[in-house]
Amino acid sequence: MARIGIDIGGTTIKFGIVNDEYEIIAKTSCDTCAERSPKDIMNEIAAQATALVAKAGLTMDDIECIGIGAPGTCNTRAGIVEYACNLHFENVPLQAEIEARLGRPVRIDNDANTAAYGEYIAGAAKGSDSFILITIGTGIGSGIIFNGKIYTGCNYAGAELGHIVIQKDGILCGCGRHGCFEQYGSATALIRQTREAMEKRPDSLLWKYAATLDDVTGNTPFEAMKAGDLVAGELVANYMRYLTCGLTNIINIFQPELMCLGGGLSNEGETLLSPIRLYVAEERYSKYSLHQTRLEAAKLGNRAGIIGAAFLDRAHS
Ligand code: BGC
Repeated sequence: MARIGIDIGGTTIKFGIVNDEYEIIAKTSCDTCAERSPKDIMNEIAAQATALVAKAGLTMDDIECIGIGAPGTCNTRAGIVEYACNLHFENVPLQAEIEARLGRPVRIDNDANTAAYGEYIAGAAKGSDSFILITIGTGIGSGIIFNGKIYTGCNYAGAELGHIVIQKDGILCGCGRHGCFEQYGSATALIRQTREAMEKRPDSLLWKYAATLDDVTGNTPFEAMKAGDLVAGELVANYMRYLTCGLTNIINIFQPELMCLGGGLSNEGETLLSPIRLYVAEERYSKYSLHQTRLEAAKLGNRAGIIGAAFLDRAHS
């Protein structure tokens, strides 16, 4: 039977109808417009999901269940998004509201937990006993899977690895702390760092790959670096040092079998991963251990959040 998976990101909401083989048979997306009220966002989610089911030639009766990944602390038992620092969600009863609108059972969980579960059941982490997914996007998300289950801590707020501090008294984060990993290692942070470099260096090739500061994406500095631009090269190396700092902290705590990087930047593949593997190897505590955490790119890309969400009923059972 078909299921619906919905991935609420800081920038885009992605929807997919997923079959029992973990294939997405129909999909759509819309802008999150995070400044909207939770009610407006939920109305749009219901409308988009309804239209997608019709587009796939199905009715809601063909849908076994619906899963939603949302940023922030998702109380999976009560179905409530308790708090999200990058979205104006505070104690939003997402599960009940979507069930009321669509008439099918709904499960929710944190967006990165959901994507990690997707990679675990159908992607890079199939068969792995201990796996951590780090998503690099608007924020930094993280999902920890141990022995086939999502680890959420005692209060559903686990794990928020994007909010470990890597720079004391550093940049103010949306969560209220200063110097969070997310403020230095997210795609948003890289875009900010790129714009700062461009303002200082009008001669940089970065301007060839982004005509205005508004055109900068997380991939802009990588493109300019590959074309030989020294400013971009320095910027990317500096960014990777921040990323390595956060990733090594996480490896030192958990020593998972596998850590994957997801989110838009992970499509840089080995350009991103090779140097990070080297830096992590220099810095990690487990230098002398026989077994080391494998560091890979996530496999499913955007599909991880959709597929994981569609099967959340299994993650929570
Ligand atoms: C939030 C996480 C979320 C991540 C990615 C962070 O700012 O605190 O809950 O998973 O962004 O959306």
